[in-house]
Amino acid sequence: MSSPSLAAIILAAGKGTRMRSNLPKVLHPIAQRPMIGHVLTALEPLAPERIAVVVAPGMEEVAAAVRPATTAVQSEALGTAHAVLAARHALAGFAGDVLVLYGDVPLVTTATLEALVAERRRAPEAAVVVLGMRLAEPGAYGRLVAAPDGTLAKIVEAADCTPAERAITLCNSGLMAADARHLFALLEGIGRENAKGEYYLTDIVAAARRHDLLCRVLEAPAEELKGVNSRADLAEAEAAMQRRLRRAAMAAGVSLLAPETVFFSADTRIGSDSTIGPFVVFGLGVTIGEGVQIPAFCHIAGATIGDRAIIGPFARLRPGAELAPEVHIGNFVEVKNARLARGVKANHLAYLGDSTVGSNTNVGAGTITCNYDGIEKFRTEIGENVFIGTNSSLVAPVSIGAGAFIAAGSVITEDVPADAMAIGRGRQVVKPGGAALWRARRGNAALAKEPRGKR
Ligand code: UD1
Ligand code: MG
Repeated sequence: MSSPSLAAIILAAGKGTRMRSNLPKVLHPIAQRPMIGHVLTALEPLAPERIAVVVAPGMEEVAAAVRPATTAVQSEALGTAHAVLAARHALAGFAGDVLVLYGDVPLVTTATLEALVAERRRAPEAAVVVLGMRLAEPGAYGRLVAAPDGTLAKIVEAADCTPAERAITLCNSGLMAADARHLFALLEGIGRENAKGEYYLTDIVAAARRHDLLCRVLEAPAEELKGVNSRADLAEAEAAMQRRLRRAAMAAGVSLLAPETVFFSADTRIGSDSTIGPFVVFGLGVTIGEGVQIPAFCHIAGATIGDRAIIGPFARLRPGAELAPEVHIGNFVEVKNARLARGVKANHLAYLGDSTVGSNTNVGAGTITCNYDGIEKFRTEIGENVFIGTNSSLVAPVSIGAGAFIAAGSVITEDVPADAMAIGRGRQVVKPGGAALWRARRGNAALAKEPRGKR
């Protein structure tokens, strides 16, 4: 759904004291993406005309993270109503629906936001629709108090509840949709006579009712609406997001052999008919083609993997690894900032960094591109159909022509032309009978050294 008359205010000025962190709460990552980034991602398909993120003074990091969304500074954290009013200027002249979202309620989905806007517009039109959730243990959440006709009468903060209100299990997620015509006017009239002495956004409902305006609740799954206030909440949100990402991957045709052990980033993309084994972790910026196999214990970040490639077990792909279709990367192989053409095989114990490798080249066990001299990084260029023997060191900058053959154990410091054989190792010497002679000498010497009594 895209509407020309939708705006969003995202509250993010709270101190986040319970996180005990120097990082603003909304920048703590979930699936490698800052919490507030998830809110913006969920919002994106609704194409709001304006987005204003309310931050505290000095929160430049948050402002940078949410760009191009604008930020409004709340001079002092005087409560959620005060925070929404801080965005008033950013929404000047706007007419339509305003979504109020929280930077610390990061799991809300696009579908739920769309349903919220639709519910706001449904006849008879409500001035305010609040997203609610059912919790067996509502704890510190505000309680949604229903009117006899089933509409929303008021929201009461946990600290201000009567015992009867405290028993209500329908809780305030904090998220709401309001008609811009009423939103700021209603908030202007709200006081701070409550347990915390703050301007509560939740009081907007009672204020609306006093003006004979209708308010409703839309219930959504609690898993989407839980707020993150502590590190424990953050871990719960991470687990919930991982469950969601795993379900989405499987729905898109990816087999996960042990889903609960696979960890995705919010932006991980995997083609259908790929199979991911147990204990595979994806960092940011991974794109994987179709029919790719990734057996157990791999760590993959910033990498592109072509169709039908086989990665691992125990492989590590770091940023800038670009693997064409049908590349095979085996156990204890690390690839960083390297382009591997179709059919390259590096199946055991290798490091390919700052390199290009041509198609069908075979990289032997123990091959290392020596890309760093302690000061600078250098590139290794390897052509197609090259055979690199076991335990070779390729000292960059160096290039190896197509069809070349590097003998096992070589240290390659000079360029190798196409179809050449390069051998860079000490020459072997064989002395017939030498071992027997050596043993005899060693034996006599040992005998001569032993104390007399023991002979
Ligand atoms: C709020 C709701 C509560 C609801 C809960 C859901 C109020 C009064 N209470 O409580 O009913 O159940 O959320 O998670 O609204 N913020 C500002 N400026 C402020 C204060 C807060 O920007 O002055 C922001 C915070 O950064 C956060 C959001 O508003 O993103 C919620 O604030 P928080 O202090 O976490 O409210 P709760 O006590 O959780
Ligand atoms: Mg909160």
